[in-house]
Amino acid sequence: MNTDLRPSGPFRLGDRVQLTGPKGRLNTITLREGGELHTHHGVLKHEALLGQPDGSVHTNSGGHEYLALRPLLRDFVMSMPRGAAIIYPKDAAQILASADIFPGATVVEAGVGSGALSLWLLRAIGASGRLISFERRAEFADVARANVETFLGHEPETWRVAVGDLTEVLPREVEPASVDRVVLDMLAPWECIDVVADALTPGGVVLCYIATATQLSRVAEYLRGTGLFTEPEATETMIRGWHVEGLAVRPDHRMIGHTGFLLTARRLAPGAIPPDVRKRALKKPTYSDVDVDAWTPGAVGDRQITDKNLRKRVRDAQRAVDGARLAAAGNGSDEVVD
Ligand SMILES: C[S@@+](CC[C@H](N)C(=O)[O-])C[C@H]1O[C@@H](n2cnc3c(N)ncnc32)[C@H](O)[C@@H]1O
Repeated sequence: MNTDLRPSGPFRLGDRVQLTGPKGRLNTITLREGGELHTHHGVLKHEALLGQPDGSVHTNSGGHEYLALRPLLRDFVMSMPRGAAIIYPKDAAQILASADIFPGATVVEAGVGSGALSLWLLRAIGASGRLISFERRAEFADVARANVETFLGHEPETWRVAVGDLTEVLPREVEPASVDRVVLDMLAPWECIDVVADALTPGGVVLCYIATATQLSRVAEYLRGTGLFTEPEATETMIRGWHVEGLAVRPDHRMIGHTGFLLTARRLAPGAIPPDVRKRALKKPTYSDVDVDAWTPGAVGDRQITDKNLRKRVRDAQRAVDGARLAAAGNGSDEVVD
């Protein structure tokens, strides 16, 4: 199986290539036999790129130059079709470190959403790991599958997508105490903590990615209340870009102010009660339905995708993966842009 999730070396048929053309305009193509990129600046034949190094510059029929680079995973996830909001690269990187995702790990993820985090996790577990991604909405699972296949060129053998609610499906899909790491990205992760506690191996890590402070509080108290985990640790990750040009060296004017918080805790061995946990154990928090309503995506300012829009995203994702399959098979029609 091809486990090289970031192809390098000269361009080959089936590679996705990001072209930066006149005025910095970006076009992403998938290299195929006889393929051409048509713009109002002229035509660039795919074959001109075959065998050329990543990062090379190519001139089209109109004399315009294009810089050709394979998209990095962070470029791909930011531009791929989305069903649900994705985890941004800055948070995905931190999740890999905080949840200690390692080659060969058995990892559970829920929900799969658009598959952005799945791609990072698949890379980190390598050829000998196992990722089981749970998603309760079948259409989102379809978008995620299409995105993963578009980026990797195949659906990896290390990945399984299970459709259904984690609370119901997890106990059926994995043996108790068999999972090394669990990553939850969903509205109400506290609902899943009991099944996660059963699935995790002693010492295993659960990581919750949550958008609001109220959700953070609720899931932290729930974890504490079980008595089955170490003291939860919370962080947020801010990355500030810098403008570095000549003597103008300063932070960028704009940055991403908030995405989400990370909360991690480790599963204790059966029967283990560390002294600090015993002292701090709280009663299970009593949140009402009204509290939960206050955290719905609409209430916290996230736009809910309409069914019509979601069907369009599924079609977009399917078109992208169909194009990648055609290209991998060495045929297909030309891209026409502009
Ligand atoms: C924000 S999205 C996940 C995005 C994903 N991490 C990514 O990077 O693309 C949250 C997803 O969780 C799913 N979800 C929420 N609760 C769930 C549950 N209990 N079991 C399975 N999936 C769930 C939702 O349907 C939604 O697709």
